[in-house]
Amino acid sequence: MAVTGAVMVLFLIGHMVGNLKAFLGAASFNEYASFLRTMGEPLLTYRVALTIVEVVLVVSIALHMWSAISLARRASKARPVKYAAKRKAQAGGYAVHTMRYGGVIILLFVIYHLLDLTLGTVNPAGFDSTPYDRLVEGFAPSRWWVTLFYVVAVIMVGLHLRHGLWSAFQTLGLASGRSYRPLKVVAAGLSALLVLGFLTVPVAVMAGVIK
Ligand code: HEM
Repeated sequence: MAVTGAVMVLFLIGHMVGNLKAFLGAASFNEYASFLRTMGEPLLTYRVALTIVEVVLVVSIALHMWSAISLARRASKARPVKYAAKRKAQAGGYAVHTMRYGGVIILLFVIYHLLDLTLGTVNPAGFDSTPYDRLVEGFAPSRWWVTLFYVVAVIMVGLHLRHGLWSAFQTLGLASGRSYRPLKVVAAGLSALLVLGFLTVPVAVMAGVIK
């Protein structure tokens, strides 16, 4: 879970920073989108590096889900009888109860997101448009509900990440004694930073700052 999670965290950091190029204008954002397709050239041909990234991401998502399911099965086999006492778990309420449902909702969001901003199928600008046009038309003020959906989904990504990072720290044996509190802050801080960074773009488009 930790390795595939780490791959996705690295992708999310890169993706969030790249999205902020939208504040530099259409040319800068489209140039960045085009770089994603031409990176690795001339050693690799058009879109090869991006396809490798996509395959790594799909494999990571699949393995992440597979690990989650097999860990849950192992846990219920090891302890088929429920605990009598409802003890407050180590991690916060959202994480314990809804990590798996949250994960499924995030997956559905990513599918919608690809149809929206990558393929343009559910975007008013359509497929035959630039990535910047899809961004500006997709989050137009009249489509406030799309922005709202993104806000909810990205907050869920943040909560998922906070718990995921914290679990990884514990699994690696890092979160003990003195490092317990600081690492909790690192997990929450990095997640909050990602959420804020991601949300600035759709909110700025909706507010007319990016147009
Ligand atoms: C909320 C702010 C977000 C914005 C404005 C945004 C924007 C974009 C845009 C414009 C693209 C298409 C790039 C292109 O065609 O060149 C894209 C692709 C993508 N986004 Fe996002 N994104 C956001 C959040 C997220 C989140 C939270 C995730 C994951 C949980 C995510 C996962 C992806 C994936 C997997 C791709 C496809 C990458 C590829 O082409 O291989 N995005 N995003």
